[in-house]
Amino acid sequence: MNLFFKQLGLTAPIIQAPMAGAQNHRLALAVCQAGGLGSLPAAMLNPQDLQIELMALKAGTHAPYNVNFFCHSAPLPDPARQARWHQTLAPYYRELGLDANSISSGPGRVPFGHDSADVLEAFKPAVVSFHFGLPAPDLLARVKGWGSYVWSSATTVQEAMWLQAQGVDAIFAQGLEAGGHRGMFLTDDLSTQMGTYALLPQIVSAVRVPVIAAGGIATTQGVVAARQLGASGVQIGTAYLCCHEASTSAVHRAALQSNASGHTALTTLFSGRPARGIVNRLMQELGPLHSAAPAFPLATAGIAPLRAAAEARGSSDFTPLWAGQNTGGCRVLPAAEITREFLQAWGTA
Ligand SMILES: Cc1cc2nc3c(=O)[nH]c(=O)nc-3n(C[C@H](O)[C@H](O)[C@H](O)COP(=O)(O)O)c2cc1C
Repeated sequence: MNLFFKQLGLTAPIIQAPMAGAQNHRLALAVCQAGGLGSLPAAMLNPQDLQIELMALKAGTHAPYNVNFFCHSAPLPDPARQARWHQTLAPYYRELGLDANSISSGPGRVPFGHDSADVLEAFKPAVVSFHFGLPAPDLLARVKGWGSYVWSSATTVQEAMWLQAQGVDAIFAQGLEAGGHRGMFLTDDLSTQMGTYALLPQIVSAVRVPVIAAGGIATTQGVVAARQLGASGVQIGTAYLCCHEASTSAVHRAALQSNASGHTALTTLFSGRPARGIVNRLMQELGPLHSAAPAFPLATAGIAPLRAAAEARGSSDFTPLWAGQNTGGCRVLPAAEITREFLQAWGTA
């Protein structure tokens, strides 16, 4: 048996991807209870809310779980770019009757820091995973020091080798099909990004640590293919978005179940970093990659009022509809049912 998941006490390494904004402990718990590794996304949680979520997770299961953080560095202020962004969005503010002068440059998402580590330490999750590289060495040492496994995403072979050199215990090979933010951190050149089934075997042959395939895996056949290409586990996000236990919004669920879900693209409009979502009106009209969008995570603040006003009218025109390319696997089912199918598929691969 694969030592990697035996160490975690799992029957098969089926990992539910952390999905900030689309789930909380309920989805993670359902996956853990079914025998997979559930993940709690913490990128948008303050320490108080993190504590509440972790307590709910711990109360529901003794199984291992993963807690996920972003670890970007805060961008330098760029007033000229911010002004161009406000100008770009001004017509939409007028259309929705909003005050463009009220756009703040709020923080958006906060990177992992000692305040979150203080909360996390009491729970000592089996796995702590990171997106956008790794936190500062003192924080990383803290997490490793209390015994959690540390995992992080690589989108190129170079990133995988860098992560291995920093001592990670496993690497997600995040292919270009993946929904949500690209975990890229050594480059911002999108031409370096590859599909899962091209990236996975290259990372597997370049590193010694276990490699978990992520991106576009939404069916039992996808699980089998990833295992055959050398994956030590699979991480699945989009296929869980319509599950009963996900907190995916009504407009997001509707988009996932519509024909529109067949067309996704990488966009910087909603946060400032490239992330994959279903193409909507804002992406069509401004183009998905816009030079005026402020650096991550500052672009979020300008979009937030537009999103709230539009969603109140049932419209997803300004909503980040994060989804991977393979939305065909999104089914309205209990998460346990989907997890069990994936667990079984891994066993037969
Ligand atoms: C709605 C959504 C939100 C996401 N949020 C996060 C996140 O908070 N942290 C993270 O590491 N990855 C996040 N991801 C990316 C996943 O970790 C993973 O790479 C991706 O879901 C795999 O591709 P798939 O969606 O095609 O299965 C998100 C993905 C989606 C679809």
